[in-house]
Amino acid sequence: MQEKANIGINRFQLNRLSQDLHHDSLIEDVQTGLSDPPRSLPPKYFYDERGSKLFDQICQTDEYYLTRAESSLLENHADEIVSTVRPTAIVEYGSGTSEKTEILIKAANQHHDWLHYLPLDVCEEILIESAERLIERYPWLSIDAWHGDFLHDMQQFENTHERSLYTFLGSSLGNFSYDQATRFLSDVRNTASDNDWFLLGVDMVKDQRILNAAYNDGNGYTAAFNLNVLNVLNRALDGDFDTASFEHHAFFDADRSRVEMRLRSRCQQTVTLRGIDLKLDFENDEHIVTEYSRKYTADSIQQLLKKAGFTPLNIYTGSKNEFMLILSRCST
Ligand code: SAH
Ligand code: TRP
Repeated sequence: MQEKANIGINRFQLNRLSQDLHHDSLIEDVQTGLSDPPRSLPPKYFYDERGSKLFDQICQTDEYYLTRAESSLLENHADEIVSTVRPTAIVEYGSGTSEKTEILIKAANQHHDWLHYLPLDVCEEILIESAERLIERYPWLSIDAWHGDFLHDMQQFENTHERSLYTFLGSSLGNFSYDQATRFLSDVRNTASDNDWFLLGVDMVKDQRILNAAYNDGNGYTAAFNLNVLNVLNRALDGDFDTASFEHHAFFDADRSRVEMRLRSRCQQTVTLRGIDLKLDFENDEHIVTEYSRKYTADSIQQLLKKAGFTPLNIYTGSKNEFMLILSRCST
């Protein structure tokens, strides 16, 4: 299904990858993930309109170094990347505000006088808002936006452009389990053609004080973002989660090389989701795992990319070794 939005005549198109993006999968995810301990929820439900705004605020905090580190790598290497790839199109999974991608978009214009941008995101509001901004700023840009879930409904996604640069930024790969990451990368590889390229941004293993601070910012945006998923459930499933009865808990687990994000019950309580007739009993201190954020080394990420059929060509880490951008060929 396609619709033309009324911005930038014929330069913006919004495609939907599924009719009812959340409802069916949400019910299933809640029933399987929340009914019994160990309880967990998939991270995609964080991103309603408020969640996307809160994530944007997290990215601007002093503690969350990831966005600044990745932006500066892009500022320093965008010219080299686009000279190597010379893309006619940039595809982006989980595009969010597209602010970092804008650095690549501007650089790509030096080689072609027309560029196609194909952002894909589960949050429709942020897709449209970001497209409006980009269309207005760059008269040589056309945007084919895709609203959907990059783990589940990619069958209908289409990209007919040659020499595309596929991107997955923001360390979002770290939010997948090992199996999900392997499957996702293989899907990207199968979607892309042999002469396409893939730019991946992932966070690196480092001192755990820095990692713990990044996921526990002093302004409380991360806590608000984590707790907001309970509002999403209340709204969608007629629930009575009291966000004040849960608390944000995030810590680096060095053995598993990942930050674990939890919501911990502050008391013994029963929560009812009337929409699906489900009662959840929480003990005091019992938790829901809401997200993992895996941290990589240059070796571990290259191994994963090779396994999925990519050939890593350049790894950019900057002098601080905080964050990595890996540019790979989509062929072996
Ligand atoms: N790439 C941006 C945003 C990262 S936040 C950056 O680097 O700053 C993760 C983004 O992925 C959000 O915009 C969120 O809405 C989107 N997202 C999360 N899970 C998704 C899923 N399963 N399918 C599609 N988009 C998803
Ligand atoms: N991709 C981001 C990351 O792993 C997502 C994120 C940042 C996040 N802060 C968060 C997810 C807090 C849940 C809670 O860094």
